[in-house]
Amino acid sequence: VGNLGGAAAQGGRYYGAAVAAGRLGEAAYVAALDQEFSAVTPENEMKWDATEPSRNAFSYGGADQIVNHAVAKGMKVRGHTLVWHSQLPGWVQNLGSATEVRSVMDNHIANVAGHYKGKVFAWDVVNEAFADGGPVGTLRSSVFQQKLGNGFIEEAFRAARVADPGAKLCYNDYNIDDANAAKTQGVYNMVRDFKNRGVPIDCVGLQSHFGQVPGNYQQNIAQFAALGVDVQITELDISGSGTAQADAYRSVTRACLAVARCTGITTWGVTDKYSWRASDTPLLLDGNYGKKAAYYAVLDTLNAT
Ligand code: G3I
Repeated sequence: VGNLGGAAAQGGRYYGAAVAAGRLGEAAYVAALDQEFSAVTPENEMKWDATEPSRNAFSYGGADQIVNHAVAKGMKVRGHTLVWHSQLPGWVQNLGSATEVRSVMDNHIANVAGHYKGKVFAWDVVNEAFADGGPVGTLRSSVFQQKLGNGFIEEAFRAARVADPGAKLCYNDYNIDDANAAKTQGVYNMVRDFKNRGVPIDCVGLQSHFGQVPGNYQQNIAQFAALGVDVQITELDISGSGTAQADAYRSVTRACLAVARCTGITTWGVTDKYSWRASDTPLLLDGNYGKKAAYYAVLDTLNAT
């Protein structure tokens, strides 16, 4: 099969890309997107600052453009993200009481997940809530954590389940790719606890912004999957170029294919031209939409199964 989405589909998986609404007017960008990818994640358009810039005034222009394109092309949509400390408008950060934060968070989730009900197959319900480093289980400071305590995460998942009972609900984070990292262990313990107590969680998103791919990456994916959740590689990009980059992409692809519950891979962009890692070339298509060694490594690995 000659494209990433089709090749991944042979194993029942999707192969997606983060998409920026502002690029959908560029013919070459759209052509590459449509040719290669079977899923999209809005890179910024579903974040709080875009969808609810002022209280209870929702705006879906950019996100709707991406979702409408995806629906028209039969692509899956990952929703990114409902609750995150970053790209969070000042009015949310300045809320005074737990009661207010809770009602604002619930209202945001109900509106945004409700708007995309039936169109988004998986939501990053909470993004990047864990602190970097240890001790295991430490959450990052945010208005949600400060006012609601660590229970804000499970509150958000319960609200998301009500808002869209058909969507897979994911916890998404970076630097949880190495099984031995304290941050990974904190997320692992949370997922195990949620599954034990019946808190609705269906998937873990490993962002996978890599320099080096951890040696135990496949083991890490398998360990999360063994808790009874799907694993999705949600924001993949790998520093570098040439053979070393291709080898790294091949190992990531193999790791996902080796675990039945690793259900799909998303690269964090379509082309190096628009990568958030502006001084690097971390994606599969170069700045002219040419296929890189890394692209062929991924395609061949997907086709080899
Ligand atoms: O759209 C505004 C524009 O109006 C303004 O004039 C300009 C001035 O700075 O900023 C533009 O917004 C930028 C936005 O991207 C859209 O291009 C923001 O400054 C910039 O901060 C923002 O960066 C995004 C970043 O998240 C913000 O945290 C990146 O595009 C996006 O790739 C990145 O994605 C994150 C994931 O959501 C979560 N995981 C990590 C990943 C990489 O950082």
